[in-house]
Amino acid sequence: MEIKAIGCEPLQLKRVLIENGHTLEVYRETGGYKSLETAFGMSADAIIQEVKDSALRGRGGAGFPTGMKWSFVPRDSPKEKYIVCNADESEPGSFKDRYLLEGDPHALIEGMLIAGFALGAATGYIYYRGEYNYLIDIMDEALREAREAGLLGENILGSGFSMEIHTHTGAGAYICGEETALLSSLEGFRGHPRMKPPFPAVEGLYASPTVVNNVETLTSVPQIIEMGGITWRDLGTEKSGGTKLWSISGHVKKPGVYELPMGYADMEKFIMEDCGGMLRDDKKLKAVIPGGSSVYIMNAGQIVGKGVTLDYEGLVEAGSMLGTGGMIVMDETVDIMESTKNLTEFYKHESCGWCTPCREGTDWLVKIFDRISAGGGRPEDAQLLLDICDNIEGKSFCPLGDAAAWPIQSAVKRFPEDFRHWLITKTNGDLN
Ligand SMILES: Cc1cc2nc3c(=O)[nH]c(=O)nc-3n(C[C@H](O)[C@H](O)[C@H](O)COP(=O)(O)O)c2cc1C
Ligand code: SF4
Repeated sequence: MEIKAIGCEPLQLKRVLIENGHTLEVYRETGGYKSLETAFGMSADAIIQEVKDSALRGRGGAGFPTGMKWSFVPRDSPKEKYIVCNADESEPGSFKDRYLLEGDPHALIEGMLIAGFALGAATGYIYYRGEYNYLIDIMDEALREAREAGLLGENILGSGFSMEIHTHTGAGAYICGEETALLSSLEGFRGHPRMKPPFPAVEGLYASPTVVNNVETLTSVPQIIEMGGITWRDLGTEKSGGTKLWSISGHVKKPGVYELPMGYADMEKFIMEDCGGMLRDDKKLKAVIPGGSSVYIMNAGQIVGKGVTLDYEGLVEAGSMLGTGGMIVMDETVDIMESTKNLTEFYKHESCGWCTPCREGTDWLVKIFDRISAGGGRPEDAQLLLDICDNIEGKSFCPLGDAAAWPIQSAVKRFPEDFRHWLITKTNGDLN
């Protein structure tokens, strides 16, 4: 596994790369908690403005501007306010947050404290996916260290501001990463998504104003306060500020977690040079899912020689999305029908069952894929898959339905030969 910054100084990876970077001692030696002190000397409006200026977009997948989300919180509401960190990281292909939770827990605590101070929250929760249970001891120890040093609890650093942060673990359900399902789970209910609006910023945990942010989003906050929003933004592009962690896996020689400036040029260079190129030298690049599995799959023709920049806009222009930055690389040995079947099984398994299009639709999709892979593919199956996806996408209660449809829609359209093989060669029929 490579852990490395390319094209920028390591910011997110700064302490992940240092021995004992997870301890309070090393965190403070390397400038930690100075941003919190700076923030205590600022007004809430000024902090939110810096975050807006930074063009930080949420790193949990949707890319929503963080400063704008924070500004939706009704700070004059008499209700308690909450900061919730989404550490559920269950997206196939995404494993960047794990390194921050393990290697730089104090950066997350500091980010949550600054958010709490700006938004008037006295309580924060870090919601871990069940499989990350083994990481909780590291955070609990960091919270203990911070508490002992007067950085957490009552009257932090004599500022008059008090906040407590708690860790919480789910049971390993992908849907509990969706922010409203996460809040249901945190309240002790089954992890079903809730209707939006009202959005969590207005009515979230215990029906109170709540900011839900991804781990990497919150660890960016101390950096923004330290260097100023505009300077941080200018590390990336005007619309996609700062640096970004990419988890890269699959058929590359050097999989790992890479920090790149937003707008890094380009995707082909990143895969073929920075990540060492194809795992097997004699195999060609066939496909990439650039943002975790819940985005459109790209074929090599959309990447090679196309100068795709690694930022939100660049990936949309190239026909996919940045998502969480969990890049899955596949060489020519991969059968895209089979890999898409595999992903669809995941979405069917993780569908919470609340709404019909997703619950029934993902089940039908898996049944069709099963029949195709058992040699019973029919020429009309490609269209049938697309029709079912059409009845899931945009018609489900939460974005998991869309996430299940997008890989299939793009796979059928961008890799017709892989489906033709199963629907014609295997059946001797004609693809209509
Ligand atoms: C099915 C599903 C799973 C999700 N899983 C995660 C996750 O594991 N971590 C995360 O930060 N966001 C996840 N999200 C996105 C969250 O709903 C939400 O947008 C995010 O936590 C907001 O934080 P951000 O603005 O900092 O990105 C998921 C969304 C969906 C629909
Ligand atoms: S889209 Fe799927 S995961 Fe989301 S509410 Fe409906 S059944 Fe549950």
